[in-house]
Amino acid sequence: MEIEYVKSRFKKHFDGSEGSVYASPGRINLIGEHTDYNGGFVFPGAIDKGMVAEIKINGTNKVRAYSIDMKDYVEFGLNEEDAPHASWARYIFGVCREMIKRGAKIQGFNTAFAGDVPLGAGMSSSAALESTYAFALNDLFHCGIDKFELAKIGQATEHNYCGVMCGIMDQFASVFGKAGSLIRLDCRSLEYKYYPFNPKGYKLVLLDTVVKHELASSAYNKRRQSCETAAAAIRQNHPEVELLRDATIEMLKEVKSIISEEDFMRAEYVIEEVQRVLDVCDALEKDDYETVGKKMYGTHDGMSRLYEVSCEELDFLNDCAKKNGVTGSRVMGGGFGGCTINLVKDELYEAFVADAKESFKAKYGKYPKVYDVVISDGSRKLA
Ligand code: GLA
Repeated sequence: MEIEYVKSRFKKHFDGSEGSVYASPGRINLIGEHTDYNGGFVFPGAIDKGMVAEIKINGTNKVRAYSIDMKDYVEFGLNEEDAPHASWARYIFGVCREMIKRGAKIQGFNTAFAGDVPLGAGMSSSAALESTYAFALNDLFHCGIDKFELAKIGQATEHNYCGVMCGIMDQFASVFGKAGSLIRLDCRSLEYKYYPFNPKGYKLVLLDTVVKHELASSAYNKRRQSCETAAAAIRQNHPEVELLRDATIEMLKEVKSIISEEDFMRAEYVIEEVQRVLDVCDALEKDDYETVGKKMYGTHDGMSRLYEVSCEELDFLNDCAKKNGVTGSRVMGGGFGGCTINLVKDELYEAFVADAKESFKAKYGKYPKVYDVVISDGSRKLA
């Protein structure tokens, strides 16, 4: 992302002035999907695509925000009733509000921002935006908020100002990312561990269907509700089960007759997925990428068949990966469109990508986008 580009726009928009520049990345996730809000494990890493924002305190109680990509300008106050209408601005407003709720003394500022995380591709452009502002405002207003709380501020912004009841994975990865490492996070204890990830002889590549389904956020919230319903049913027999992370398939089977078939399927996927992340960690310790890949296919199957967050185009790309002998492939992120993440041997990479592009084009009339994954650093000040 071009810092100079953001700086020149800021200058133009705000009478030649200059502020401080901050950035936060989007993320990938190797495995562990829809496990975060169930207290399970995730395995994300930050990427080399993100948001860059320039910010200057303006001495008023108003935020003046310019989205360079949308060419849209919004002004808003910092009280609860000042919420802007533009959805991009609600992320910034939400971050300010969540910081103020935590006692931070946030005042007015001018800001312009731009990003290169593809929207709706499952790489968390919104978390990148939230993390950028949480990190920046914490620095500029000397709030002394720790990094975990900054991630939680982004998550609370989604919950309270954007209507998505997301887990902590995306904001965590954006704030805590480290070049060359994936991070295993236990979403209940919040313990985490960096895993240097440089699989010799393999590449990670994302194939973007460029499909984004409407109502993804209500479908997402519905999945979360199903998980909570299933956990509550299990808890009646097993009081120690706070979240699905604590449950086993046997416990779930005990309540099969009292929960809906749909809730059962959702919970079955989650319980299996929590285990898959642990299996992948073991496999990585032994450089056993064949097992990592098998688990990724297992995740895709579960997300498609049980969690029902895949779509025709994603399933098509997953089949295409199988056909080309790709080691592992699955839908990445929340689902309902977006990307597959593929672990592919170096010598198969070119043929796979070429076949995926051409066969997708033949079927859907457009090329999928291709992104090579570069695992990068998290939130930071650039200038
Ligand atoms: C979205 C959410 C995350 C997580 C993933 C699915 O990206 O923001 O919290 O639940 O979906 O793993």
